[in-house]
Amino acid sequence: MAMGVEVVQRLARRGPGAATVTLSVNREAREVRLEPRVSLLDALREHLVLTGAKKGCDQGTCGACTVWVDGRRVLACLTLAIACEGREVTSIEGLAPDGELHPMQAAFVASDALQCGYCTPGQVMSAVALIEEGHVADDAEIAEWMSGNICRCAAYPNIRQAIREVRDTRDARDARDAAGRARHGKARSARPGNAAGGS
Ligand code: FES
Ligand code: FES
Repeated sequence: MAMGVEVVQRLARRGPGAATVTLSVNREAREVRLEPRVSLLDALREHLVLTGAKKGCDQGTCGACTVWVDGRRVLACLTLAIACEGREVTSIEGLAPDGELHPMQAAFVASDALQCGYCTPGQVMSAVALIEEGHVADDAEIAEWMSGNICRCAAYPNIRQAIREVRDTRDARDARDAAGRARHGKARSARPGNAAGGS
């Protein structure tokens, strides 16, 4: 996440001791006291007890800590928590707020897309974002855009299967919705007295 001049100036005015930081996490405002050097990952795990995002490498190479900031995936271990003030942070806990699995989580289970599960929260956060980003044309594209998420258990084929499943279900639903809209539009234009219907 690029840090603007305004953010840098704000950071310079606070710290180096603990400061009060207000974060919006999974649509809930949370106030924490932390030093400006604390990463978003540590803020989530150690201060807010949201332990879904995992600490694999703590240096930006494994993807286990992937969360979203303003809907875009970021590595929480390389993001300063204080720089996320005024932004919306979504962690894996926010994908299933009512305890019902997100379709991607359900697809991971159905596809057996995990073994030890340590990388899984980061994989799921990336996979959902990947669909939104539209980088799911084929396995090669999926593999490339998921390459920041390492799986030591090498569950990659099953992870790709889960992503394909969600992609195909969504495509089928979109096609049905489009057909429904087209049918609805035709019915309206064919009504007597409707100029567009030619009567
Ligand atoms: S813990 Fe953040 S990339 Fe590995
Ligand atoms: S399931 Fe074990 S690291 Fe991915």
